[in-house]
Amino acid sequence: MKFTSLHLKNFRNYASLDFRPGGGITVLYGANGSGKTNLLESMHLLSVGRSHRTSVDREMIAQGEDVAFVRAHTQRLDGKHDLEVRLYPLEKPQKRVLIQGKPAERITDMMGHATAVMFAPEDLRIVSDGPAARRRFIDMQLSQIRPSYLKALRRYLSALEKRNALLKHNKARPSDDFNRQLDAWDEQLAGAAVYVVEPRRWFLDELSRHAAAQYAAIAEDANEVFSLRYTGPLATTATPYRDMLTALKRSRAEDARRLFTTFGPHRDDLSLMLAGKDLRAYGSQGQLRSAVLSMKLGELALIENEMGEMPALLLDDVFSELDHQRRNALLKSTQGVQTFITCTDKSDAAGAKADAFYRVVADENGHANLTCDE
Ligand SMILES: Nc1ncnc2c1ncn2[C@@H]1O[C@H](COP(=O)(O)OP(=O)(O)OP(=O)(O)O)[C@@H](O)[C@H]1O
Ligand SMILES: [Mg+2]
Repeated sequence: MKFTSLHLKNFRNYASLDFRPGGGITVLYGANGSGKTNLLESMHLLSVGRSHRTSVDREMIAQGEDVAFVRAHTQRLDGKHDLEVRLYPLEKPQKRVLIQGKPAERITDMMGHATAVMFAPEDLRIVSDGPAARRRFIDMQLSQIRPSYLKALRRYLSALEKRNALLKHNKARPSDDFNRQLDAWDEQLAGAAVYVVEPRRWFLDELSRHAAAQYAAIAEDANEVFSLRYTGPLATTATPYRDMLTALKRSRAEDARRLFTTFGPHRDDLSLMLAGKDLRAYGSQGQLRSAVLSMKLGELALIENEMGEMPALLLDDVFSELDHQRRNALLKSTQGVQTFITCTDKSDAAGAKADAFYRVVADENGHANLTCDE
């Protein structure tokens, strides 16, 4: 998959941009705050429907404007695609998608027209932050590979929200019918959970295999075997529906007291293991970086396996930070892949065998522009 054109309107500090990137390695360099990450963020938005650094879509709209457009043409093995995301801060829905110029019925329909993997400094949060960051990582990547997963996840979260609402409502106004209503939601929730847990289990098994191979290629110590382990209340059971239903019934009194659902895949997590030990607790900084890089490279390989072609690779500010060995591992993975590398100095990307260099400059009004080096 390659981006053949990218059009931005009122997106962050881009008032207007018309960019036609090449299919190889493109370096975007420029001063801090010029708009390099913003450009990668727009491609991330097109690929997974959200920013890699904020969950508040409104922040991506240029200040003072009431609508932002991001549109791309992409080339896939199956042909040309045309995808547009529009953000409206004050209207509902705030986000609208157009595919081949026509409004999409559902946001989830946007998956698969533009596929990208981002590697940014923020990714270390996958290791350092709480379980929510790891679930976000799983959900975003899995949605790209299996668009049906996103629908299943939304169905689960919607049932969860309604069950939680019922718990709160009953506290305010106890009803004789409470247990019967809860029975109905328990069944819905357990049914929906199966379609969240099974894809997660598959994805983490596959990703673990690919990431382990990548880690082995960059690790200094061959005994350091890296793996990912899916942890969560239903991670290993062969009967997720039955187990979930039983657990929901068992935790009913507690849920009614705490006013939310305490059991289910919304509390899932992921362990990162190195040589049999928990990386989060025992890993060095270098090992954490290698682990995150391996997960990203593993993801590239997994997407290629599943979709039959490579996604675009978005490397934000990570290239210059890597040591020789890790940088080479990364470069090996960029062969034949449309890659965007951002850095502050052009020389930071030396060795990347770039096909094009673009300088990103913000003008006196703060608006970003790109100029191609000859
Ligand atoms: N919604 C917005 N409207 C207008 N400008 C914005 C908006 N959001 C961010 N900006 C501006 O975009 C700039 C930051 O852009 P970006 O994060 O892409 O910088 P960068 O080139 O990646 O810098 P660095 O090298 O520090 O990572 C800042 O000047 C910020 O004020
Ligand atoms: Mg940046």
